[in-house]
Amino acid sequence: MLKSVLLGLSRAPLMERLVVGFPLTRRVVQRFVAGETTDDCLRVVRALLASNLMATVDFLGEDTVTVTQADRVTDTYVELLNRLAAEGLADRVEVSIKLSALGSLLKDGYELALDNARVICATAERAGTTVTVDMEDHTSTDATLRTVRTLRADYPWVAAVLQAMLFRTSTDCAEHTGQGARVRLCKGAYAEPSEVAHRSKSAIDRNYKRCATILLEGAGRPLFATHDDAMIEHVRSVANRVDRSQSSYELQMLLGIRSEEQRRLAGLGHQVRVYVPFGTDWYAYFMRRLAERPANLMFLMRALVERPSKKQVRSGF
Ligand code: FDA
Repeated sequence: MLKSVLLGLSRAPLMERLVVGFPLTRRVVQRFVAGETTDDCLRVVRALLASNLMATVDFLGEDTVTVTQADRVTDTYVELLNRLAAEGLADRVEVSIKLSALGSLLKDGYELALDNARVICATAERAGTTVTVDMEDHTSTDATLRTVRTLRADYPWVAAVLQAMLFRTSTDCAEHTGQGARVRLCKGAYAEPSEVAHRSKSAIDRNYKRCATILLEGAGRPLFATHDDAMIEHVRSVANRVDRSQSSYELQMLLGIRSEEQRRLAGLGHQVRVYVPFGTDWYAYFMRRLAERPANLMFLMRALVERPSKKQVRSGF
């Protein structure tokens, strides 16, 4: 119930103005978001790499409403990728993009988003890294997978994201098991109707395990995005059974969530990639993180009533 309310509010402009305009919210946001600028983001990325982790960077923003805004998002990714290459980080850091940030919701938007995604992929290829196309709500699944297929004709390393909460996902997984296919499997972060999606945690978890098995038994390179011990244990045990090396798949988690576990898994020899969002447009992303765990809401409430230290106020996020 609370989860649906928070997910609903993630798309409410009035609430966005209230939350974003309240300076103390930033103390909590900085746990999940690397900062506002490319410099902030690179500082966080360097620290993760020093802990033997890898990263996928997301320039925050979704539901872009003008072509200029879509161009600005594209330019920011190009600048970021060029800096990753210049600093020699591109072998361990890739980018995650959202088609709605690249203009897919505008008129003829998927063509615009595809053009922008091509620019980002061409820059990523020159930099020596890869791109993952994030998945948004179920109304965009077909168009997003179509876009990924088109991009893969020129850039076969482009990764798709599939969401275990959707009924369709085991079928989608079976279609993404070809040699080298990169697929990120997550549970799904959006409020979806019961006509298309599992709603209970147990059903979503069951489907996650089923989909993970399909991907691990295939010939692709699965990317398991989850903080859930039971899902990770399942991945490790199926990988053992089918004789997959640790380097043939990745475990992925979000910045600020289970950071010690990220380092522990990397220490065991797993390839662990951390999703690093940055930018000023953090509201919707932040609300989805609150929705996933009511304890985060308490953390926010506490931060709002406690007096901030001078250091916390100065640091922004
Ligand atoms: P679950 O929600 O069941 O949580 C399991 C445990 O993890 C919790 O008990 C808690 O300990 C910890 N945890 C989870 N979320 C937390 C939080 N917010 N704060 C603190 N602790 C938390 N979704 C999507 O729809 N499209 C996408 O493209 C992506 N991309 C993506 C990339 C990466 C790298 C990750 C890790 C996740 C995504 N997601 C996503 C989000 C994903 O769908 C899902 O909402 C979250 O990962 C939470 O699901 P878990 O698998 O962690 O399980």
